[in-house]
Amino acid sequence: MNDASTLTLFAKQHNIEGLTEPSLKALIANEVGYTIDKAQRFLAFQKRINEELLNHPVIVSNHYCNWFEQGHQNKAQISAFVVQFSVFSNLFLIAQLHKTINADTLEGMHASKEILANEIGVIFNGQNTAKKTKDDLNAATNPDIVSTEGSVEGGQFRFKAAHFEWLYRMAQKLGLEFNDIGKRRHGTESTLFFCDELTRIYGNEDYLISQAASYAVENWAAAGFWEQLIKGFDKFNDTSDIKLPLGFFTWHALIESQHAAHTQEELEELYFNRDIDEDKFIYYGNEMLNGVAEFWDGLEKQRRTLAD
Ligand SMILES: [Fe+2]
Repeated sequence: MNDASTLTLFAKQHNIEGLTEPSLKALIANEVGYTIDKAQRFLAFQKRINEELLNHPVIVSNHYCNWFEQGHQNKAQISAFVVQFSVFSNLFLIAQLHKTINADTLEGMHASKEILANEIGVIFNGQNTAKKTKDDLNAATNPDIVSTEGSVEGGQFRFKAAHFEWLYRMAQKLGLEFNDIGKRRHGTESTLFFCDELTRIYGNEDYLISQAASYAVENWAAAGFWEQLIKGFDKFNDTSDIKLPLGFFTWHALIESQHAAHTQEELEELYFNRDIDEDKFIYYGNEMLNGVAEFWDGLEKQRRTLAD
């Protein structure tokens, strides 16, 4: 019998179908914290998460992205969007730094630093970049080819690989200058509310609260908004004489599709290794998604004021 069918049979016998492979393997191996009873409790918790968290309007239907995808934006609407996204991109660094400082294990701190260092320009030391010669390093900061895999450990720092600079290059094509983007003063009330909620909840010093926010944010990111934005930008580029470089968005779409696979495994690992206050997890997950929704609702309101 192969590995996969052993796991399926084991899950069936114990009425725990739906768990990811790493959890089933840990159960079979009798790892500390992994019991059949806990597995069944997790599945009941997962059902609650599906019903009480993942049904959030910002995951199920995002009005702004549904509009954006159609590609009918005028230049003012596109510019306004890039400015708000640049504020989010910069202020996200503050939330990520809080998350790093508040990590309660060295491993957790490393995971947070991976994201933080990569945001500011450390290129992942992945397969794609490892192949490049020195001459290619300038090109290697281009989001169209820079690696989405690997670690910042041993990776190269390049100013031009900072995600903010990818957005800046896009903004320049729209006639925006460095001081037109990325600062707190450029954010609308909704954008700032979202960024502050990220720092407060995602960067919280209570590990469970920050994990609830991470899980919520990952599920939001995996819900397809990057692809919707890319579709809208592609249509804008097709019909306009401005050709926006989309690397910031295509790179993030790619990395999110890789994250999505791990999000569920991480939740199970958290559940089996810690005693979770389930109500608290769902409460803070929703608080975080309310912050995310405020960001998109603010963009929706703003684009209406900028309509032709
Ligand atoms: Fe980023």
